[in-house]
Parts: sequence; C-alpha cells; structure tokens
Amino acid sequence: LARGDLAQDLAGRHVVVSAGGTREPLDPVRFLGNRSSGKQGYALARSAAARGARVTLVAANAALPDPAGVDVVPVGTAVQLREAVIKAAADADAVVMAAAVADFRPETYATGKIKKKDGQEPAPIALVRNPDVLAEIAGERPRPGQVIVGFAAETDDVLANGRAKLARKGCDLLVVNEVGERKTFGSEENEAVVLGADGSETPVPHGPKEALADTVWDLVAQRLA
Ligand code: CTP
Ligand code: CA
Repeated sequence: LARGDLAQDLAGRHVVVSAGGTREPLDPVRFLGNRSSGKQGYALARSAAARGARVTLVAANAALPDPAGVDVVPVGTAVQLREAVIKAAADADAVVMAAAVADFRPETYATGKIKKKDGQEPAPIALVRNPDVLAEIAGERPRPGQVIVGFAAETDDVLANGRAKLARKGCDLLVVNEVGERKTFGSEENEAVVLGADGSETPVPHGPKEALADTVWDLVAQRLA
C-alpha cells in the first residue's frame, strides 16, 4: 500500500505521542540524559497523521524536523513531559509513550555552574525519582475507552520482563524491543514484539521504524473500533 492509500482509520481521533529523551539539568550547562533519538516517536506521529488523526507530539530534545500537520509541544525534563502529556491526554483517544523518560533527576539544581576546587574530590550527585507518566495515565484513564501504549527496551528474558512491565504499568499495549549490539538507539530500523493486556503477542520483524509505527496504530485502531 502506498502511504497515500492508507485507510483513514484514525480520522476524527486525537492521539498523543511522546518522543525523544528527557534531560535532567544539574546546572546551567550540564544534564543527565539518554541516547534516545526520537526517531520511533516521530515515525509514530507521521503515521498517525497519515491515517487521519489529529496528533499532539510531545517532543523531548529530539533534533528532528516537525512532522507536517502535527502539533509539536517541545519539553526538556520528565516533569515538563508529564505536564504536557497529561494536558494533551485529557481529550485523547490514544496515548503512546515512546519517549525515554529519565527515572531519576538530580535532587538539586545549581543555579551557577558547578566548579572544581583544587585538591578537593567532587561531591556525589544525589538523585530523586521522577514521576512515572505511563503508569499515572494508565491508572487514571482520563477518557473512557482510551488506549494507552508503552515502550520498553529489555535484555535477558525479554518477553517475561515485558509481560511483567505491562502488568505493572497497567497499559493496554507494550512494545518490547530487545536491546543489544546493533539494536535500536539512533538506528533507522527496529524489531519488536507488541504485547497486549488481552494476552496477545504481535511480532514485528526487523524493519523500518515506519513499519513498527503502522503496526502499533493497527493494534490501537482495532481497540478503538
Ligand atoms: N515511562 C514513563 N515515566 C517514567 C519512566 C518510564 O512514562 N518515569 C514510560 C516510558 O515512556 C515507556 C515505559 O514507561 O513507555 C517503559 O519505560 P521503562 O524505562 O522501560 O520502564 P521503567 O518502569 O522505568 O522500568 P526500568 O526500571 O526497566 O527502567
Ligand atoms: Ca526506566
């Protein structure tokens, strides 16, 4: 199917996608961050727009062009991402959390640049927990019938870890990637299994992030119908 021929199966729907990776500042020039490129989240936003959805893309530090026809909300930290996602989710039919959200942030922010001092060892960095946006949205379900989707990168027993995480988060679908040598970060391709709270398991073969995005929206559209 050419992209122009895609079914408009998300027409009239509002979907929220988070993408990229949060950055947690230590001082005006430094942050704790992660290697998420944002490519998978942007592919999800483009795919949903092509299928007729109104799309809000909450973009955390992704150096990517704004997709056409998509409402982009730029954010920096996990706390900012939470605020933007919760606001957009209020009237959303689906929320897809593709962003890599930092689990912790520095306990304190130094308003001036942290300097080294002669003959002195650096102070340890104290961290505190960030809010779990996915678990919060899935727990509160701001709108009835809303479909909530998470992403997880796992090693070792990928499926068992994914099942446990799906249950813990309370979401409807969890896209599980196996991370390893050639896999995932910054790459153009992806390979995954989409686990459903209904027990379903949808393998997505190694391929472009657009193909994974289309499969996610297929599964979301089924659940919205
Ligand atoms: N997530 C979130 N808020 C957080 C952390 C994660 O909303 N503070 C979301 C991510 O966007 C993703 C899903 O939860 O969709 C799974 O993220 P992951 O880091 O795998 O889950 P964690 O519960 O943080 O588990 P782990 O300890 O394995 O990192
Ligand atoms: Ca995490």
